[in-house]
Amino acid sequence: MENRGSFGSKLGIILASAGSAVGLGNVWRFPTEVGENGGAAFILVYIICVLLLGVPLMVAEFIVGRNTHKNPVDAYRTLAPKTGWVLQGLLGVFTAWFILSYYSVVAGWTLKYLVSAVVNQVTTMSDSSAFFVSFTQNPWMPVVYMAAVLLMTHWVIVRGVQGGIERYSKMMMPMLLLIIAVLVVCSFAMPGTVEGLKFLLWPDFSKLDGGVLLSGMGQAFFSLSVGMGCLCSYASYFTDDAKLFKTAGSVALIDTIVAVMSGFIIFPAVFSVQEVAPDAGPGLVFITLPTVFQMAFAHVPLIGWLFAIMFYLLLLLAALTSMMSLHEPVTSFLLERFKMSRRAATWVVTASCIALGTLCALSFGPLSEVRFLFGMTFFDFFDFVSAKIIMPLGGILLSIFVGWYLPKSLVIKEITNSQTLHFPRWLFVGFFFLVRWVAPLAITAIFVNELLS
Ligand code: PFF
Repeated sequence: MENRGSFGSKLGIILASAGSAVGLGNVWRFPTEVGENGGAAFILVYIICVLLLGVPLMVAEFIVGRNTHKNPVDAYRTLAPKTGWVLQGLLGVFTAWFILSYYSVVAGWTLKYLVSAVVNQVTTMSDSSAFFVSFTQNPWMPVVYMAAVLLMTHWVIVRGVQGGIERYSKMMMPMLLLIIAVLVVCSFAMPGTVEGLKFLLWPDFSKLDGGVLLSGMGQAFFSLSVGMGCLCSYASYFTDDAKLFKTAGSVALIDTIVAVMSGFIIFPAVFSVQEVAPDAGPGLVFITLPTVFQMAFAHVPLIGWLFAIMFYLLLLLAALTSMMSLHEPVTSFLLERFKMSRRAATWVVTASCIALGTLCALSFGPLSEVRFLFGMTFFDFFDFVSAKIIMPLGGILLSIFVGWYLPKSLVIKEITNSQTLHFPRWLFVGFFFLVRWVAPLAITAIFVNELLS
């Protein structure tokens, strides 16, 4: 086999995989979902979904990647030769490419806000909503910022697995965790702490309904990056002694801690500004939070300024490590299937994502009138197709593939690292039960609900 590289250490494996999981999904989407779905009850549902669906499926994806040491398409081709399963690999690569294109638009917004925070614009703007709207509707600015974050990702991916992804994950993830810790402490000093914490920690079960359940499941999938090619692709660079259960457990733990901490940062702050609602939706971090930073700035200018910079730097770091994991499966597919050099493959992915991302970036401004199915803009369409159609479908197929198609002996061999690790029997029984039955049935429920809603 040609030398395709591998991660150099177990820490590198965990930090890179956690980097994929921790992203805009944690710091931007999670608080939004918590706000819209009633707080603590949603968090409880989310955590149950992470444990019962997210972790088993993450292990399943690791098995496919680590067993074959190939890009997602060739991984399925190797494990299921001459069958239609190769389409599952292709779906994963295609989805990663699709998600990367629109994800980088929001990542670009975070870069814009970071720059604005540094020049003290975030803390002094008179109308945060007008600022957001005029930026996202501008005919070229969102494109420039989107291209900039894609080029930053390109810079890492072109350096390969150890010298790029692992090296930068090891730098960026500790920085991210440190910023989170500092911001949580700052946020607790805000006047709205008690109300914010009550909202986050006191479950109001009357809020629980089918919609909350399904939103929790959807969020768990998106946040853990499961159901497509990213984790499979990272796992193809895992060493043979990497422990799959332990890695998945650590990643899920880090991911959940970051999500809950983001809630701890955002809600006390939001509740301290009486006139902003916690269910402000996706604009929460771009429209609501600047108001909070302004308030802090009015009291202690240095703190408000630093708070804003650290928050948007956190969002940017989180976004970049996830973008790396979305870029790599597409790059490795081109590189291995079409025998391209890493440099050429990386450029094809970056350039095509800039082209596709431009359509998404402009769909808030000049292209806002271009509509698809159900009146969706390019951005909405990309989000809908990838997160709401392909990801659940990918999750269902993954659970069927690993739970039912692959020989049980191969699955056990991967989990136990060829019988060198020993687990209690209930863990195997539980794992197979979740992957074979719970995951496909539960995800089908999300899928059908999303399509009908
Ligand atoms: N998990 C990332 C987040 O929470 O932002 C987003 C993501 C990355 C989704 C990679 C899917 C994926 F394959």
